[in-house]
Amino acid sequence: MSSEVRRAAQILRAGGLVAFPTETVYGLGADASSEKAVARLYAVKRRPPEHPVIVHFADADKAFAWAREASEQARTLANRFWPGPLTLILRRSALARDFVTGGQDTVGLRVPSHPLAQQLLKEFSGAIAAPSANRFGMVSPTTPAHVREDLGKDADLVLEGGPSEVGIESTIVDLSGSTPVLLRPGRISKQDLESVIGPIGERTASSPRHSGGLERHYAPRTPARMVAAHALDKEISKGRSVAVLAFSRPDERVDFWLRMPRDAQAYAQKLYAALRELDTAGCQQILVEAPPDTAEWAAVRDRLKRACEQG
Ligand code: TXA
Ligand code: MG
Repeated sequence: MSSEVRRAAQILRAGGLVAFPTETVYGLGADASSEKAVARLYAVKRRPPEHPVIVHFADADKAFAWAREASEQARTLANRFWPGPLTLILRRSALARDFVTGGQDTVGLRVPSHPLAQQLLKEFSGAIAAPSANRFGMVSPTTPAHVREDLGKDADLVLEGGPSEVGIESTIVDLSGSTPVLLRPGRISKQDLESVIGPIGERTASSPRHSGGLERHYAPRTPARMVAAHALDKEISKGRSVAVLAFSRPDERVDFWLRMPRDAQAYAQKLYAALRELDTAGCQQILVEAPPDTAEWAAVRDRLKRACEQG
C-alpha cells in the first residue's frame, strides 16, 4: 500500500475529495455515507442535486449491502464482470441515502478493477461516491492531466494511475424493474450481458433518470458533426476551418487531423483525449468520420452522438 493511497483514504475520511483512476475514466471520489462530503462533490462537479452518482466498492458483498435485494441476475452479472467496467442499478437499502441517489429509490453500484481504485477502496473500507472527475457536461477525463485541467485545485488529491484502459464510462444496466434495461453502453456490450442473463431491453421514456442520457452530455465546446466517410471530402471542401477525427489519412487542406484506430476498443481508449485535443485546435468546427454502425461500435457511437448533439 503506497503512502499516497493512505493519504487519499485519510482525505476521504475527513470529508475531502480524491480523484482516482479507474479502468474506465478518472473518478472524483467522496465518502458516500457523508452528506457533507457528497454535497461538496456536487458543488465541485456543478451537478444538479437530482442526478444520482455511482457508488464504488471493493467487492460485490460490500456493494450488495447497499441494495435492498441482490437478485439472481445481479449476482450472475457481478460474478462474471466484477471487478470491471459494469454498473448495476438496484433498489437501494437504507445505506444508500437520498443525497447519493438523487432521491430515487434505486442506487448505482460499481466494483472497479483498476489496482489503485481497488487499493483505495480497501484502505478506505467504506463506499466511495464517484462521478467522472470533470465538471458537469464536459468530456470525461482519462488522464491525471485532464483531471487537473478540469478541476484545478478543487480535488484535494489526484492519484496518478496513467491513462485509463477502457477510455469510456462503465456500462450501466438497470435491474430495478421487471426486465433488465441497458441505460448506458460501454466496453461490456449488450451482447456480452445477454450471453449471461438473457434478453436486455433498451432505455425508454419511463427508464430512470440518468445524466448520461441527457442530450449533448459528453460535449466539446467547438460544434461537432458526425459525417459518413464518403461525405467527409465534401465537408472539407466548404473551406471552413475544421478539425477532423477520422480513420483515413490526413487531407492536406486540413490543419488539424487526428487519425483513429479501426479497432473499436482502441478507438474508445483514445476518444476523450482526442475530443479534448480537437477542441483546443481553435477551429470553427469538428468533423467526425462516422464509425461503422455495428454492435461492437455501439458504445463509441453513443458517445460520439452525444458529443455531436448541438445544444
Ligand atoms: O465508468 C464510470 O461509471 C465512471 C467511473 C468514475 O466509475 N463514473 C461515471 O459516473 O461515469 P458519472 O456520475 O459521470 O455517471 C454516472 C451515470 C449517470 O448517468 C447517472 O445518472 C447514472 O450513472 N446513475 C447513477 N445512479 C443511478 C440510478 N440510481 N439510476 C439511474 N441512473 C443512475
Ligand atoms: Mg460523467
